[in-house]
Amino acid sequence: MMMMLEVVQLGAAAACVVVLVPMGMAGLHLSRNKMLFFSGALFITLAVCVHLTPYFPSVSDFVTSVSSAVVFDHRTSCINLVNDISWEVKPNASLHTFNNLSSSLDFYDKRWDWSKSPKLDACDFQRLSATDASDLLNGSWVVVAGDSQARLFTLSLLNLIWGSEAKRMDSVRADLFKRHSDYSILLDEIGMKLDFVWAPYVVNLTNSMMAFKTKKSYPDVMVMGAGLWHMLHVTNASDYDFALRMLKSSVVSLLPFSPELGMNGPVTGSVSIKSPHLFWLGMPMLINGMLNTQEKREKMSDAMWHDYDRALGDSRLLRQTGGPLLLLDIQSLTWNCGPRCTSDGMHYDGAIYEAAVQIMLNALLIESHQRL
Ligand SMILES: *[C@@H]1O[C@H](CO)[C@@H](O)[C@H](O)[C@H]1NC(C)=O
Ligand SMILES: *[C@@H]1O[C@H](CO)[C@@H](O)[C@H](O)[C@H]1NC(C)=O
Ligand SMILES: *[C@@H]1O[C@H](CO)[C@@H](O)[C@H](O)[C@H]1NC(C)=O
Ligand SMILES: *[C@@H]1O[C@H](CO)[C@@H](O)[C@H](O)[C@H]1NC(C)=O
Ligand SMILES: *[C@@H]1O[C@H](CO)[C@@H](O)[C@H](O)[C@H]1NC(C)=O
Repeated sequence: MMMMLEVVQLGAAAACVVVLVPMGMAGLHLSRNKMLFFSGALFITLAVCVHLTPYFPSVSDFVTSVSSAVVFDHRTSCINLVNDISWEVKPNASLHTFNNLSSSLDFYDKRWDWSKSPKLDACDFQRLSATDASDLLNGSWVVVAGDSQARLFTLSLLNLIWGSEAKRMDSVRADLFKRHSDYSILLDEIGMKLDFVWAPYVVNLTNSMMAFKTKKSYPDVMVMGAGLWHMLHVTNASDYDFALRMLKSSVVSLLPFSPELGMNGPVTGSVSIKSPHLFWLGMPMLINGMLNTQEKREKMSDAMWHDYDRALGDSRLLRQTGGPLLLLDIQSLTWNCGPRCTSDGMHYDGAIYEAAVQIMLNALLIESHQRL
């Protein structure tokens, strides 16, 4: 509601909104041209409003409020739909033998796209190319913190940007998959710093938030997620819930505004206070029968998984429950892709993390528009 009022106050005409969009995105270092490109449908809608309103002076105020409200609703509902991905998983027709496949995963072709519905089509989600992603993240500091899911996510993000350079990717893969270690890389061409922080437990995530606070230096984008280690080694959902609540309060205290003010923070003039874009990398579905040790099959039961999922909801860490972090819904991605997308019931095919990266990038686009 606050945002809506702010927007309404912001301009006597929707033209202001169009002009201010690029300013709001500066935190993500999008070039002006790209921004206009990305604003796409939104830009056109507003342009139409702007061009029509002079002819109806008596209703122009009305149109302005309505168009601002529509833009706001559009962004909010698109953020809510950004995880809505459907999969097509079928045997790769050109492979007729299982014998010499590196793994049975390669036997299946996995294609994904945003689901088709008029609402989703209106959001105009798109797969960003290496160039688009580079433009969007140019000059940014991105931190991905968590367990092996976070590591796979990091790999997918690098793969999107450097995918065409096999040699570079081979060396990244070798460094990134050294067990239980941090990894940091500077992508010189786009001045982007990417850190992977090995943080298998939520308490490790809380500690890295504290470290940012101490140094007074915050990443532009932070993706975090942990749960599986706790489930295996602590196996206590209420303890997990407690850890998540601690994380939430450390995140909230780090932000320059509290989430109760709305996601956009106080707006002073046309310049918003910059705060990091925060994401939660959800837990994958576990396919119990495929887990590779007896201990995992016993402790990581379906019932325990659901207790942990409930703890996440109860902790109110996520936006959908009023918290500060936007969910990258690995649960729904892995559920919809299914057992043919995993070889150990826990770590999934690259396609899952590729989709998660694209969800994040699309959310960043929407978010940046929102930070008027
Ligand atoms: C099927 O597998 C072959 C060999 O791995 C690969 O080159 C091809 O791209 C796959 N087909 C599709 C549609 O992905
Ligand atoms: C399968 O193995 C044979 C013999 O090792 C090899 O010649 C062929 O290229 C392999 N096929 C694929 C798709 O890797
Ligand atoms: C990144 O931004 C800098 C200036 O901010 C620009 O010179 C450079 O061309 C950009 N790189 C890419 C890949 O967009
Ligand atoms: C994560 O937290 C656990 C529990 O406090 C601790 O034992 C471990 O050393 C921490 N790991 C890292 C990488 O900070
Ligand atoms: C689970 O964790 C909670 C909170 O840390 C603790 O009070 C409780 O005793 C633990 N339960 C078991 C069975 O260890």
